[in-house]
Amino acid sequence: MKGVLIVLFCAVGIVYGCTPSVTRVSGTVAPSNYCSGDIIFEDNFNNINFTNWFFENTLAGGGNWEFQWYPGHDYANLYSENGFLKFAPTFTADRYGEAFLTSGRVVIPPDQCTQADWYGCERTGTAENIINPIRSTRIDTRQSFGFVYGELEIRAKMPAGDWLWPALWLMPQNNVYGGWPRSGEIDLMEMRGNRNLFSGSTNVGVEQGGSTMHFGPNWNFNGWPTAHHTRNQQPGFDAGFHLYRLRWTQTEIQFWYDNNLVGTVAAGTGFWDRGNFHNSGFTNPWVNGTVMAPFDQEFFIIMNLAVGGTNYFSDTFVNVPNPKPWHNDSPTAPRDFWRGRTAWEPTWNRGTEDSFMQVDYVRVRAL
Ligand SMILES: *[C@@H]1O[C@H](CO)[C@@H](O)[C@H](O)[C@H]1NC(C)=O
Ligand SMILES: *[C@@H]1O[C@H](CO)[C@@H](O)[C@H](O)[C@H]1NC(C)=O
Repeated sequence: MKGVLIVLFCAVGIVYGCTPSVTRVSGTVAPSNYCSGDIIFEDNFNNINFTNWFFENTLAGGGNWEFQWYPGHDYANLYSENGFLKFAPTFTADRYGEAFLTSGRVVIPPDQCTQADWYGCERTGTAENIINPIRSTRIDTRQSFGFVYGELEIRAKMPAGDWLWPALWLMPQNNVYGGWPRSGEIDLMEMRGNRNLFSGSTNVGVEQGGSTMHFGPNWNFNGWPTAHHTRNQQPGFDAGFHLYRLRWTQTEIQFWYDNNLVGTVAAGTGFWDRGNFHNSGFTNPWVNGTVMAPFDQEFFIIMNLAVGGTNYFSDTFVNVPNPKPWHNDSPTAPRDFWRGRTAWEPTWNRGTEDSFMQVDYVRVRAL
């Protein structure tokens, strides 16, 4: 009997050659059948594939009040060349003139605007509240591809230039456990473009990459400090292409840069315990999930090149040789940043690709 069963299993294995995967997928380009180890999403950027990528079209800087304007797709800010996807930050003033920043008006029609919060669809420039001074790009797979569990690989070169904030990350497809951060956030790689930015003696600029998971019952109960890993290396991440890899199983998430394990976040007894939220006064939104909850639901991939903001660049960091031109509690942070450009503009090496984020490929494999 045993022998017969083994023979049967082998026969099935030969015919189908398929180990079933625990990975689940959704979206317009998600495959309906796949086996463990199969590539289930891939883009090599020989073109911009508008089916794969959704373009953010908003003035909103998110909860960090970032300074960039994501104008949907503008070839000046995103193009494919020689198989690389190039994220190029540009000056709003170069396109519309300096006066536009303090007196211009931008209205993104409601049916095209992708983020209305934080004054995202309509702004009028004034002397204090200038129009977003940098144009850049944020794209994601919210319509084309979501997945839970698997391996995500992004081969990319990070930008250099003061106050640039590139990010390769994921957000929840369906907010099954509620709004941020209840349904989680996974940051595979984010970095500050400054070449010489220090926290004490540690370079927190291009020589440091960060990988973080956000989760919690409320925005001010976020367990990210327990799920945050950084890696410092010389030369910095702007010096060439590196492979950023997320390995996501039903019990843990690992972050890898090339062959270096940057950190493991293990579910253990669950993320409610990890965040020590028992005395938060909130109820556990993940009680009906697995130990990985909220990271047991589908997420989509995001790539963007942000600038500044009032959170990620701490006022306590020391930038060499020029200090940060704004304070995080300034009501005029974008203006202060723009006024200080004689200090930071040279660090962008405009006219070269130094300030660009470049992506060679994005690939997802079923677990
Ligand atoms: C876009 O990518 C999808 C797979 O994700 C592929 O089927 C399609 O052919 C691509 N389109 C172009 C124009 O490259
Ligand atoms: C968990 O499931 C129970 C039973 O279906 C339900 O009453 C409860 O509201 C659920 N809790 C959450 C946080 O979803």
